[in-house]
Amino acid sequence: MVSLTIDGRQLEVPEGITVLEAAKLAGIEIPTLCYHPRLTPYGGCRLCVVEVERMRTLQPSCTLPVSNGMVVYTNTPKVREARKFILTLLFSERNHYCMYCQMSGGDCELQNAAYGEGMTHWPLPPNWNPYPIDASHKYFVLDHNRCIICRRCVRACGELVGNFTLGVRERGADVMIMADLDVPLGESTCISCGTCVQVCPTGALIDRMSAYRGREKDVQRIKSTCVGCSVGCGIELIVRDNHLLRIEGDWDAPVNGGLLCELGRFRPLYEDRERIVTPLVRMNGRLKAATWEEALHRIAAQLKPLVGRNGDGIAALASTRLPAEALYLFKQLFAEKLGSEMVTSIEEGLPTAVPGAIAQAAGRPLEGGLEALQSTDCVVVIGADLTENHQVAGFFVKRALPNGIRLIVIDPHENGLQRLAHYALRPKKGTDLELLLGILAGVIRLGLAKGEVSSAYDLDRHTPEAASQITGVPIDQILAVSQTIATAQKPVFVYGKGIIGDGSPQALKALLELARLVGALDEERSTVVSTKGQANSLAAYLYGLDRTFEVNGHQAVYLALGDDTPSQRLIQRLQGAPFIAVQASYVSPVTAMADVVLPVTTWVEQEGHYLNLDGRLQKARRGLQPPAEVRSNVEVLEAIAANLEMTLNCSWKEALRARVPIVAIRE
Ligand code: SF4
Ligand code: SF4
Ligand code: SF4
Ligand code: FES
Repeated sequence: MVSLTIDGRQLEVPEGITVLEAAKLAGIEIPTLCYHPRLTPYGGCRLCVVEVERMRTLQPSCTLPVSNGMVVYTNTPKVREARKFILTLLFSERNHYCMYCQMSGGDCELQNAAYGEGMTHWPLPPNWNPYPIDASHKYFVLDHNRCIICRRCVRACGELVGNFTLGVRERGADVMIMADLDVPLGESTCISCGTCVQVCPTGALIDRMSAYRGREKDVQRIKSTCVGCSVGCGIELIVRDNHLLRIEGDWDAPVNGGLLCELGRFRPLYEDRERIVTPLVRMNGRLKAATWEEALHRIAAQLKPLVGRNGDGIAALASTRLPAEALYLFKQLFAEKLGSEMVTSIEEGLPTAVPGAIAQAAGRPLEGGLEALQSTDCVVVIGADLTENHQVAGFFVKRALPNGIRLIVIDPHENGLQRLAHYALRPKKGTDLELLLGILAGVIRLGLAKGEVSSAYDLDRHTPEAASQITGVPIDQILAVSQTIATAQKPVFVYGKGIIGDGSPQALKALLELARLVGALDEERSTVVSTKGQANSLAAYLYGLDRTFEVNGHQAVYLALGDDTPSQRLIQRLQGAPFIAVQASYVSPVTAMADVVLPVTTWVEQEGHYLNLDGRLQKARRGLQPPAEVRSNVEVLEAIAANLEMTLNCSWKEALRARVPIVAIRE
């Protein structure tokens, strides 16, 4: 601990923190602009200056480390004069004509800092020329006139997202934020994660959808969970008058630490599918609006005679975007109460059934969490493109690259991480197993294995040379990868469903064996992580909703689609089904084929729990009220059960423990 005095208060604070952080701990406010708690301090704006005894000049507190015996003053006339001067210069440099700015009125850190210093006007006459406005990006606008060159956006894009799109050009009055080599943002390498917009302290970066539609004091902020994929990022829903204005990353969320991808931040705001707002029942070949009673009665009449019939009874399929509560009721209703054997989820266990079966056989979870990516020195990504899906996990990999980690990407297809990888291995399609065995054999040959290889592997046959021949990957690359993985201190393996391909467990088993031999997997811990699929794939697996879906012969199909988009494959498989009932939020080819359609809430209109890829059980909260006739997925399943004179229990949480999980569940 370090002892110092700030504004006459004697403090004991942890070593290594800055004066600004020490002041924060003591509840002493120092105004800042370029500082952001998630970014490396940069010391650019100088607004946070303080007076320190025995130091000749004012010091920026955001970069000044605490030291024993330090005596600091945060609010002397000299400090206040300096702050005012800094703000005066900022206001004179560009067009901060606040009344026309969307951030004016409490949302702008520059304006708030000026009010904090009692400023009522610009002491210096404005001295700026108009700067351009970059409106080329589909989701946000960069108005250089409002920019204070705090570089938070630049640092966020590099340090947090690992994308390094933004930079700074020119010097002095001509200094400007630029994308790549000064191209319009919309034509740049920007991946639309929106992190730069979230950290911008002024109205320089504003998103198109929420700008001018509500200031902080007008809106409601609701902490929730993104259901865009299985990463399960913490979000804040920014809502006004039952409209979703904006989605921000929750800086406090343990999974994502404030980051979001395009799918989580922007796409839900641009939802344009047609909403279903009333029950629909097919009459004389056409879907007609009906009451809930009519619709539920029609379903009950169709399902009742089929109870307990195998093969020609009811086939039921649920989306893995549904909350755990709904998935559990769905399983209970169709498998247990109605006795159907064909009860599964839309992903059919593709990303989970194989690792699940391996975990069951082992009797324990075999995977770890994403936090392993925070302290790794070598990452192997196989069968997953983290620049396309599960992107926030990809940000963790990309942003670790400047720290010197080694990245190995194994994928027969184009993969956005390949250009950043130290080794991008592109084996022939379907030869992942041979490549992994070749790498494993390489680890043994180099004498770097941490343990004995399982007798299941015949390494006289599976040599690196044999692997090279079969996969087409040069032998020197295979051996170099063996060496890199085996000599890493903390290797992490991230795999996706590409490694499972046709459902064979062999490649995954080889990956786990390789992980074990290089110290990434033992009884105590695992740094093997899988991407798993949609938001609740893991919960669906734990409820046993992981078999292949087939309609063949079944007399009725029930689909709990929620707000999911049906795939072409699903649409094809439903052709010819004698009776289809679907609970869905949006019109789709599946609802067009249905005999009964029940309108349900979207992800943002319902409460529920999601089990993310690293086993965290997280709550998604309601941000919006649904239209009057729309019910939640849970309510609909309960209503169907009630119409069949059945009652369902709600022990969804206990039921998550029925199977050995792929990764330990954390609450
Ligand atoms: S949206 Fe994301 S990738 Fe694009 S410039 Fe901003 S931080 Fe960088
Ligand atoms: S765009 Fe915003 S975050 Fe970026 S330098 Fe300008 S004011 Fe700072
Ligand atoms: S990574 Fe997944 S959970 Fe996170 S913001 Fe993107 S879609 Fe949502
Ligand atoms: S906040 Fe410290 S220099 Fe900008």
